[in-house]
Amino acid sequence: MTDLADRRGIETDVYQPAEDSHLLATVAAEQVDEDNLVLEVGTGSGYVAERVAGETGARVVASDLNPHACRAARDRGVEVVRADLLDPIRTDTCDVVLFNPPYLPTEEGEEWDDWMEVALSGGETGRAVIDPFLGNVGRVLAPDGYVLLLVSSLTGVEAVVETAAESGFSAVALRDESYPFESLTVLKLHR
Ligand SMILES: C[S@@+](CC[C@H](N)C(=O)[O-])C[C@H]1O[C@@H](n2cnc3c(N)ncnc32)[C@H](O)[C@@H]1O
Repeated sequence: MTDLADRRGIETDVYQPAEDSHLLATVAAEQVDEDNLVLEVGTGSGYVAERVAGETGARVVASDLNPHACRAARDRGVEVVRADLLDPIRTDTCDVVLFNPPYLPTEEGEEWDDWMEVALSGGETGRAVIDPFLGNVGRVLAPDGYVLLLVSSLTGVEAVVETAAESGFSAVALRDESYPFESLTVLKLHR
């Protein structure tokens, strides 16, 4: 496990809320309207989904690939489905999609093969999960829908913005926070 992963993982099968989770939840709670249908992809513990639902009154549904995460989120009262990214989500349905993705760049051979790797590793570029998400999220968005995506400087905000543009999205940075080992940005992506 890398140092960064060590700081984030802390010997659990489910990613526990950290700075990135708090930042995404705070910005989402400011943006989401009560009548929105919100999807949180990769909900982990369910912390972001629970906060956004509680603070806005919106209906928030969630997905995660990790069955332990699905159980943890369900135990918080989150409506959750076990799924790979957006696979089971119906076309043109979501007003807002939230995602705090796995984004740590991980060299080939440095993977550590457990649910924390699924939560943290973004492959060699840091964008191995972000890129297919950006390629598919347009399908599930309602006509005026938008995405709030948490991006780290470790992943490369410019590269994410360029990939989003290839899928027809404009990006606006809503909030930045700096930490000793990275800075975190919440991007709003809209068509
Ligand atoms: C950085 S954690 C964020 C967890 C939580 N949203 C938070 O902010 O605290 C990334 C989450 O995405 C999930 N994930 C990774 N790949 C996924 C995929 N292909 N489909 C759905 N969820 C995925 C992981 O299991 C993990 O729970």
